[in-house]
Amino acid sequence: MADDAAACTACGLSEGRTQVVFGDGSPDADVVFVGEAPGAREDEQGVPFVGRSGQLLDRLLAEELGVERADVYIANVVKCRPPDNRDPRPDEIAACRPWLARQLDLVDPTVIITLGNFASRLLLETATGITKLRGADYRYGDPPRHLVPTFHPAAALRGGAGVLADMRSDFGRARDLMAA
Ligand code: URA
Ligand code: SF4
Repeated sequence: MADDAAACTACGLSEGRTQVVFGDGSPDADVVFVGEAPGAREDEQGVPFVGRSGQLLDRLLAEELGVERADVYIANVVKCRPPDNRDPRPDEIAACRPWLARQLDLVDPTVIITLGNFASRLLLETATGITKLRGADYRYGDPPRHLVPTFHPAAALRGGAGVLADMRSDFGRARDLMAA
């Protein structure tokens, strides 16, 4: 599937990318993280969440879930870097959505953790923002899996201790669901 995606030109983001950043981690993972879009570092390396947000994500994986990156699966709403890191547009998100749907089907996790507004709104099919959505457990897909929305790590890097504390609490919710 990643090989097919590497040649994808289904939206205009294909024009500015260095490479498609498809996903990383274990296809047998119990938990899948869904971010927003690759940034500059991700576009260079072809791996999601390798910049500053990724370092924070790795830390939360270790501290709150007791796992490493290789134990989880990580993907984004769009697989190609938007120019100048602008927000992905609705048409781009729609074009890329089948790839994410196939990733979620293939990995078939117990829990999906959506990082930030774009992933949370897409998978929950809502216009509600992450500040209101987070703090609860939802369902996604058929058969239904748990979905736990939380802030994007970039928000914690900007917003400080309150956001980070909320993220820790959300990761703890996911950990309890996986143990149940
Ligand atoms: N932010 C994201 O949403 N995804 C990445 O892969 C990196 C940063
Ligand atoms: Fe294809 Fe998604 Fe890249 Fe657009 S962002 S070209 S849909 S892989």
